[in-house]
Amino acid sequence: MTLTSLLDAALDKTVLPGYSAIGPAIRRRWWPADPAPQALVGRHVVVTGGSGGLGRAGASGIAALGATVHLVGRTADRLADSAAAIRRDVPDAILLEEVCDVSDLDAVRAYAADLRARVPALHAIVHDAGVMPPTRSASAQGHELALATHVIGPLLLTEELRANLAAAVSPRVVIVTSGGMYSAPLDASIGDDVEYEQGPYEGIRAYARTKRIQVTMAELLAERYAADGIAVHSMHPGWADTPGITDAMPRFAKVVKPVLRTAEQGADTIVWLTAAEATSTGEFWCDRRPRSTYYLPGGSDDPVARRAVWTYVCHAAGIGPA
Ligand SMILES: NC(=O)c1ccc[n+]([C@@H]2O[C@H](COP(=O)([O-])OP(=O)(O)OC[C@H]3O[C@@H](n4cnc5c(N)ncnc54)[C@H](OP(=O)(O)O)[C@@H]3O)[C@@H](O)[C@H]2O)c1
Repeated sequence: MTLTSLLDAALDKTVLPGYSAIGPAIRRRWWPADPAPQALVGRHVVVTGGSGGLGRAGASGIAALGATVHLVGRTADRLADSAAAIRRDVPDAILLEEVCDVSDLDAVRAYAADLRARVPALHAIVHDAGVMPPTRSASAQGHELALATHVIGPLLLTEELRANLAAAVSPRVVIVTSGGMYSAPLDASIGDDVEYEQGPYEGIRAYARTKRIQVTMAELLAERYAADGIAVHSMHPGWADTPGITDAMPRFAKVVKPVLRTAEQGADTIVWLTAAEATSTGEFWCDRRPRSTYYLPGGSDDPVARRAVWTYVCHAAGIGPA
């Protein structure tokens, strides 16, 4: 192991330096080169959660590389504000503002049908939309909202757009998860209560569990789509100064405020994974490098829980688990 890879791994394990702005400040000395300036000209990229936070910052970086960016959010006003903000930084950005609540499976089907007709070859989907409801709430179809927003809706959207991704050159899916997933192993404790219908609900724990399921989903979708040449990545952005942190976890945000990443620093690996020339598939990334999916060496999903959760979310999304 080289000195830089040892230091890089140490930053990851010590959490605060690695997840804060210190991480990219040090790692950029050795991380892979930036994508070529025109890397995404002529490509279409969907960014959910494009109306703010990391989604907006990622969309801006992707637009700066020449892509046509489909900004997806729940309200037209917030999308318009986001597009205006991006155009201030990237005046010739090609942006399409597209309203879709990704937690609503009917809305996802309708949006995907519309997009399929307009965009025959889709370079990438960035699944960034995220929520941390303080109390248990339900999506339009009655699913727990964090699970619907982070897993069931994105799974359906990806599957609905699979043929359009497969028609592109070097297509990929980027799932924005969270380092919080390290606190939520996929094990027998989930039992048959994937949606917290029986046990007590705690927003941060429910959030972390869905972020863990996103990592597993990336691995399983990577296998599912391998024959189509579609790469699937999960990544975590570290801790970035966005409403997702400052509104949902104000006390935590206050303590770490001086070292929070900017939204652009948090979104760096989203942009890089979207534009990088060739990458592996099914891995979990932070700061342009694959990371282990369990904090302790040798950790892995419990195979029974993994299969049960995957079967459950595929059924909820209305797709076959194979
Ligand atoms: N910030 C961090 O430090 C951090 C750390 C770890 C992981 N993350 C992850 O990064 C992602 C972005 O987080 P953020 O901090 O940027 O959060 P944010 O500032 O709250 O932004 C979340 C975005 O998601 C959109 N959204 C929420 N529900 C949606 C839905 N059902 N359909 C479509 N869009 C929806 C929101 O747009 P509208 O309200 O306009 O619909 C908003 O633009 C999340 O997945 C989060 O888990 C962030």
